[in-house]
Amino acid sequence: MVERNEPMTAAQIRQRFVEFFSERGHTHVASAPLVPRDDPTLLFVNAGMNQFKDVFTGREQRPYQRAVTVQRCVRAGGKHNDLDNVGFTPRHQTLFEMLGNFSFGDYFKADAIDWAWAFLTEELGLPPERLVVTVFDGTGEDAPADDEAAEMWAKHVPKGRIYRCSAKENFWQMGDTGPCGPCSEINIYRGDVAPATADQPGTGPEHEEDAYLELWNLVFMQYEKLDDGTMRPLPRPSIDTGMGLERVATAVAGVHSNYETDLLAPLVDEAKRLAGDAIPEGAKEGPFRVIADHARATAFLITDGVFPDKAGRSYVLRRIMRRAIRHGADVGLHEPFMHAVCRKVVELYGDVYPELRERAAVIDEVVRGEEEAFRRTLDRGLRRLNKAIEQHDADRSSFDPDVAAELYDTYGFPIDLTAVILREHALTLDEAAAEQALRARQGEGGGRGANLGGGGSISGYYS
Ligand code: SER
Repeated sequence: MVERNEPMTAAQIRQRFVEFFSERGHTHVASAPLVPRDDPTLLFVNAGMNQFKDVFTGREQRPYQRAVTVQRCVRAGGKHNDLDNVGFTPRHQTLFEMLGNFSFGDYFKADAIDWAWAFLTEELGLPPERLVVTVFDGTGEDAPADDEAAEMWAKHVPKGRIYRCSAKENFWQMGDTGPCGPCSEINIYRGDVAPATADQPGTGPEHEEDAYLELWNLVFMQYEKLDDGTMRPLPRPSIDTGMGLERVATAVAGVHSNYETDLLAPLVDEAKRLAGDAIPEGAKEGPFRVIADHARATAFLITDGVFPDKAGRSYVLRRIMRRAIRHGADVGLHEPFMHAVCRKVVELYGDVYPELRERAAVIDEVVRGEEEAFRRTLDRGLRRLNKAIEQHDADRSSFDPDVAAELYDTYGFPIDLTAVILREHALTLDEAAAEQALRARQGEGGGRGANLGGGGSISGYYS
């Protein structure tokens, strides 16, 4: 084990990961942009393996059989959607960096397991006695239980810390179609008392979510799911792994939340600095964390050519930005601030992602424009919403979808933003009904021309 006085920084973890796998014959491949190339099935790049999808299925050949990447990913829509959790759990992000090693029909389970173990325990120095793994139990998908992986893990981990879980946890697929396979997850136990053991029902990472942090997912790619749902074996078994840099940095630094790591804390601090004395007494961390996360996603998405607008990917970005701006209003940020936090993102990440620096002026201009436009209606919209909440019949928990449609149409409040605000008042919104009301409104004559349907709609993609 490497002796260190200071915990490694996230930059050191990122670099060490690439070096570790390069030393083991992997080619370092650059992060793909967030907008998938030639893949209409995907809203945003959501995993390191996306750029290798056709390599796994054998449709494309590369001059290497092993690769290592640090891939920027966004999970804010479609199949892997973390947006609603962001800011209010310690571990979810819209944009995150995924560390991954890949084998295209070369090495398989044994090496993937041994190397993951060596990297975590020897390179990063994480305590082996706190690492708990899961393997596929053979239920929920038409594939056998992964006894082989369990046996391989038994070399490193006592049996009591090897849990078996169903497909929901331990069978990974990129979307409704594409390469997939059973997977094995490495979690770190964060509790104060000794962890339970796998023979105790209702325990482990699946059931005690708050006591564990999932670090690394090793996917044993063996199948391709086709349009009709059948699974075809891949030409050669392959490996796809993914480890969230923010989470592993949290574990290495020994802090509670991603937002306390050097990847995000400077952005949280920047939002607080900008709010300064205007921060209301008793303000919570959540809004600042939302801003930190969303500014990071915004800067990267604009860099990769996504601009806030009314449909598809652009609408997801708009929702992200408006969610942050509205949270800013709750913590004293009454002047445009997002562009300043985005500037900090460029400063913090520009060495690793030089494209951010190249696009800094565009990020600044686009963010300012969106912020100014939304601010023109934000206060009026919030007043309208608060009035509707006050007038809301206390006996009903469900909110009038017509008001949500009006808020979108007149004040530019994305429907899900209204839903988030309503949830804070213990009210629910039928979002589908609100979208229908919006269509009816716009059909009746004009409005802002939101495009929520057809090819550009968010639900038109899965990711
Ligand atoms: N594709 C898997 C995941 O996203 C492993 O990288 O979890």
